[in-house]
Amino acid sequence: MNITRVKSFNGTVRVPGDKSISHRGIMLGSLAKGDTEIQGFLMGADCISSIECFKRMGVGIDTYSDTVIVHGKGLHGLRPPFGVLDVGNSGTTTRLMSGILAAQNFSSKIDGDASIRTRPMRRVIKPLSLMGADIESENGNGCVPLIISGRKLHGVHYNTPVASAQVKSAILFAGLYADGETTVTEPSCSRNHTELMFKAFGADIHSEGNTVTVKPAEELTAQLVQVPGDISSAAYFMVAAAITENSEITMKNVGINPTRDGILKVLTMMGADYDVRVKEHVEIEPCADITVRSSSLTGCEIGGDIIPTLIDELPVIAVLACFAKGQTVIRDAEELKVKESNRIDIMVENLKAMGADIEATDDGMIINGGKPLHGAEVDSYKDHRIAMSMCVAAMNADGDTTLKDAHCVKISYPHFYEDMLRLAH
Ligand code: S3P
Repeated sequence: MNITRVKSFNGTVRVPGDKSISHRGIMLGSLAKGDTEIQGFLMGADCISSIECFKRMGVGIDTYSDTVIVHGKGLHGLRPPFGVLDVGNSGTTTRLMSGILAAQNFSSKIDGDASIRTRPMRRVIKPLSLMGADIESENGNGCVPLIISGRKLHGVHYNTPVASAQVKSAILFAGLYADGETTVTEPSCSRNHTELMFKAFGADIHSEGNTVTVKPAEELTAQLVQVPGDISSAAYFMVAAAITENSEITMKNVGINPTRDGILKVLTMMGADYDVRVKEHVEIEPCADITVRSSSLTGCEIGGDIIPTLIDELPVIAVLACFAKGQTVIRDAEELKVKESNRIDIMVENLKAMGADIEATDDGMIINGGKPLHGAEVDSYKDHRIAMSMCVAAMNADGDTTLKDAHCVKISYPHFYEDMLRLAH
């Protein structure tokens, strides 16, 4: 894709539904009794992978534009899957579904694309095994393909070394089926969508600080799930508005769960001009309309407990930092290396190619902002968040940029380029 400079961005955008919440809606809807209606569902490739996997286990799922009806089978109603469960590019499907499959009375096999075949799964295999699960990495490398032989599980208290909502959620899903309480303690608090949705569906779950405990469930009850816009998708528009002259973008109905709103704190630390109007009367998850305007930005330090609350936004925050005065330091973000791509190395490589002053560190990046960017050949490495971040950078650079494998945005935001272009002048 060829991308050139944009003069300004103006207007309103309704970003697609939250990816994390959409996945969880399919999974809990499948395990509940009754019909769950999911409104504002993200029809991106990752969430469609979740739909396809649960259909293969006998769950009836109807899709109408961005509304999905899941005809729940109950906690013990899944059927042995016909063939391999293909998770595509989706880490969330892989890890959360592993927790469910580990407790079924059948065996299953999970596989996915080249990227998912390199991502670390020992982080879920280990705690699930402590609960009695039988999970084998077929190639012995701790990655998919995974062969899961369902077993009776028992509750554990697991101290996870990484703050990961996917790990936490895999254990909590397994905990629904265990013979006693299951507790997870994290080093920092990761996104809590699973906890909120478990509660709404009637599971007995409570959190205190970084610790969450779930009791075994007898039954879950179908719910209406209203999915807010994904703050991770809104982030590209926030940054585009902040770094481009004469710009103002309003993002409608964006999820602002405090375990996900780190980007707003970064906008504040950098001195961005924005406001948030919180909506009343929402189910399960808080949301707001957010307006961001052209801003004079200053570099800042990003590290510690804030990292899990903005982990997926760090590639586009690196772009933001290129347009801030002074230095931005991102630390404690080594998890970026094991996302859909190594997001530290790739963002550094791409932004350097465009003339940015940016260096990789062991656990993040150091960016000296203020150097103008110029067009270059950049590569998404088929990582959707890299593609969208580099698009925002290219729209603020002199000359032409060629973005390789730009189409991968279909994973989380199929109409991203159309929405960006609609607001661009
Ligand atoms: C997700 C959790 C995060 C995030 C991913 C989605 C989820 O991963 O990066 O895009 O839906 O639980 P980790 O939990 O591994 O940090």
